[in-house]
Amino acid sequence: MKNFHLVDHPLIKRDLTILRNKNTDQNFFRMALKRVSSILAFEVSKNFKLNSFEIETPLEKTTGYDLAQDVVLVPVLRAGLSMVNAFLEIIPEAKVGHIGIQRNEITLEPIDYYYKTPKNIDIAKVILLDPMLATGGSGAAALNFLKKRGAVECIFACLVASPQGIERIEAEHPDVRVYSAALDRTLNEKGYILPGLGDAGDRTFGTL
Ligand code: PRP
Ligand code: URA
Repeated sequence: MKNFHLVDHPLIKRDLTILRNKNTDQNFFRMALKRVSSILAFEVSKNFKLNSFEIETPLEKTTGYDLAQDVVLVPVLRAGLSMVNAFLEIIPEAKVGHIGIQRNEITLEPIDYYYKTPKNIDIAKVILLDPMLATGGSGAAALNFLKKRGAVECIFACLVASPQGIERIEAEHPDVRVYSAALDRTLNEKGYILPGLGDAGDRTFGTL
């Protein structure tokens, strides 16, 4: 798991408890997911490169900074949408693409149904957003798509990852660093993460 980065923070542990609890209602679930996503956004952007330039404060000249590289957020529909606003609050200059991928519930293989990404994706830092990395099928397919459209530098940010999912991303996309707020034990026979938090899309959007 050399490209895997576990984001460890007391507030993440507190919020993951809220997310994992089956009695958490939709509103608290969304709020906790957003808070964890904010911490992920700080961590993912920690090594972003900067341009420096001169600015003037009301008192004197000093050095200012902005991001040296464009950032493109790409949520995997639907559940990835729940992470977008938190990332945009931390990185407001980011553009947003969308990828629609849904797992076939029987084969667990991803089916794609929507793609729209910004033009400059080849020179941007692309951050794929999906709260769940289970078998890795959806994440691997989304990264294939992004690379076919020219993406070169991709990061995958998720909330809960399984060992199987991390291994698949590492095998198929060894250049992609995976950031996750949790590394769980395994998958069940239906491809759900254990202990996990259930179906992230359904719990976010109230479609249980
Ligand atoms: C979930 C989740 C990931 C995928 C993870 O989406 O948001 O995209 O499953 O599973 P995998 O790693 O085994 O591919 P789902 O297909 O349930 O669609 P949804 O977001 O519309 O609920
Ligand atoms: N998708 C989810 O939403 N949850 C899982 O545990 C696995 C895939």
